[in-house]
Amino acid sequence: MEKRAQLYEGKAKKVFATDDPNLVIVSYKDDATALDGLKKGTISGKGVINNRMSNFLMQILEQNGVKTHFVEELNDRDTVVKKVSIVPLEVIIRNISAGSFAKRFGVEEGIVFDEPTIEFSYKNDDLHDPLMNAYHAIALKLATKEEIDTIKSMAFKVNEVLKAYFLKLNVKLVDFKLEFGRLADGTIVLADEISPDTCRFWDAQTNEKLDKDRFRRDMGGVEDAYNEMMRRVFGE
Ligand code: TMP
Ligand code: ASP
Repeated sequence: MEKRAQLYEGKAKKVFATDDPNLVIVSYKDDATALDGLKKGTISGKGVINNRMSNFLMQILEQNGVKTHFVEELNDRDTVVKKVSIVPLEVIIRNISAGSFAKRFGVEEGIVFDEPTIEFSYKNDDLHDPLMNAYHAIALKLATKEEIDTIKSMAFKVNEVLKAYFLKLNVKLVDFKLEFGRLADGTIVLADEISPDTCRFWDAQTNEKLDKDRFRRDMGGVEDAYNEMMRRVFGE
């Protein structure tokens, strides 16, 4: 399968058409942004790690009954995925307080929740991705009530599967962001990526951060953290 015209370039990935109208190729870059795009940089080797890790996790999820966009990994940076129209919501699941949750509610990071939480942000750069609830999303026709119900149950299923998977690697899955898309027939599938860019990973013993927070917060050791997650997942 070969790349044809570039359809889109995002902050971390490019998307190319293929000869099959139902398939596209995503190509992962090393570019990183944070703080609503204000902070820009490069995380060397990130594209390879995110591509391989995301594909691996999507396959685990498929084995556990979660439909995803994944089709075939072509090489270290390029993957064939089903073409979807993205539901313009960032779906965030949290198991432990951190990041914007800790800030918004004035609590420390590291509080383990009895139950995971779910929240939605409207994917809209001009509005800076405002937080919204499911009723707002339905009112704005971003998704139907049925689609929201599907997305919620899929997101919690993803959490169950991945939380258990990462714990075996001695990693706490603190929180993460998912995106969903619609296939031509309307089926909702998990899309975008699952990687250290889109998840918070803490070492289970030390709580050392092994994700993009090291970049967001200028902590140093960014590449080392991505490489460590790669090592834990693939043993390399
Ligand atoms: P937050 O605490 O900043 O709201 O982030 C929650 C989770 O979502 C965290 O794992 C990072 C991820 N995330 C993204 O993948 N993209 C984004 O644009 C934001 C704001 C967060
Ligand atoms: N990638 C997002 C941005 O550039 C935010 C983040 O991941 O922190 O705004």
